[in-house]
Amino acid sequence: MFETKGKQNTPNGISPKKPEPKIRTVTPDDDRLPPSYRPSSPGSDIITRKGFVGNMSFLKGPEKGDLISEYKRFSNFPPKSAADVVEKLIAKNKDLSKQPFPHCVTFTLWATDNVNTYGRSLAQIFALVGLRLVGDEIDEVELIPLEELKRPRIDVVVSCSGVFRDLFMNQMTLLDQGIKMAAQAKEPPEMNYIRRHAFQMTQELNCDIREAATRVFSNAAGSYSANISAWIKSNEWENETQLQRQFLARKCYAFNSDKPGMMEYKSEAFKAALRNSDVTIQNLDLNEILSITDVPHYYDSDPTKVIAALRFDELKPVCLLAKTNSEGTEVHTLAETIRIDSMSKILSPDYYEKILKQNHDGVKEISNCLRNILGWAVTSGNVDTFLFEIASSIFMEDREMCTLLREKDNASFRNLLATFVKAGEHGYWETSDVKIRRLRELKKFAESAFD
Ligand code: BEZ
Ligand code: MG
Repeated sequence: MFETKGKQNTPNGISPKKPEPKIRTVTPDDDRLPPSYRPSSPGSDIITRKGFVGNMSFLKGPEKGDLISEYKRFSNFPPKSAADVVEKLIAKNKDLSKQPFPHCVTFTLWATDNVNTYGRSLAQIFALVGLRLVGDEIDEVELIPLEELKRPRIDVVVSCSGVFRDLFMNQMTLLDQGIKMAAQAKEPPEMNYIRRHAFQMTQELNCDIREAATRVFSNAAGSYSANISAWIKSNEWENETQLQRQFLARKCYAFNSDKPGMMEYKSEAFKAALRNSDVTIQNLDLNEILSITDVPHYYDSDPTKVIAALRFDELKPVCLLAKTNSEGTEVHTLAETIRIDSMSKILSPDYYEKILKQNHDGVKEISNCLRNILGWAVTSGNVDTFLFEIASSIFMEDREMCTLLREKDNASFRNLLATFVKAGEHGYWETSDVKIRRLRELKKFAESAFD
């Protein structure tokens, strides 16, 4: 019989139905599939959340309901870890400033941190202001009554990264609405610092109380970061005032839930809000980095000296960093954190000898690390000058070490020298003129050599 190739003959001449493909449910943790075929799952922080196994499928940002609500499901809101950070922040500030409560805390909010932790820094802000979510819809906030809060509502300035602004419009709306609600609450000003400051600002800015409660800021649409680190990297910056002006100019765009969809240039409102701050804080994303001296973006966004320059008194805000892992939370001053990080890294022989031996970019790592320490000294102060002295005795005063650095990577060696010279010239490193002169000469020599 004549047969068509590929066609099956059946008794009734009808081809059998193709069998239904078996559909297997794929879970985000299904590691039999290559990463690109796995469905995305909400972001998570493998350090904070013990049970989570990272498998490259955690690249999706949280949906509206994921953020904060995750915390809400697992514990009473605010979550214990956020409430812990706030308690430790208040205790640390009390220790250092002798004030029972800070009057205003400036937060730097990072997108990745909030993606990875389901909004822990957002939750900390809620806790400071005394806000909680209403119902399950995650689109409404209410004030925690003062009798329940048992302390004053603390004012906040929320300085969001550009990526946060892009991703978290709903959460910015919640923050703005909650803060404005606090400013309008008929509560005694000594128990509600937001209201107290907002009233003062109605005079200062000649506006109504809602506008005077503008506290959520970021870059202009399409713009990212304060770009202070670009100046520090270039070594071309002249003084702190120049950098502080840039910070203010780039980060002063206000979010306003009364006018959704636009970031408005609000320089005076930003300055007036920052001026009241006595604490600055950032959460470290331990999922991304282990040390604040590894990367420039934390100091790039640090507002501590900007605030000190704006304040009408001589007070220098306390600069804090919060760490949360599965063991609990820690809040340390910047000075403590830099000391621990640098002593355990670039100033530790175990560390620098290993990276110089094993890593092809060991000199670059040392140079970047010292430059990030300088960055913190510029934006925050609170960096011990003796750290530069120890670094200089390790890397610059030992002839063999100098030769090794220069021969391994002359470009990074030059950058390292430039950082020492800049730190000495601007007083972040208190050392002798002779040492600075010698380093300037060494720098000239390194600049004349081929890489
Ligand atoms: C963030 O918002 O997560 C982010 C922005 C810039 C650099 C790193 C992190
Ligand atoms: Mg940014």
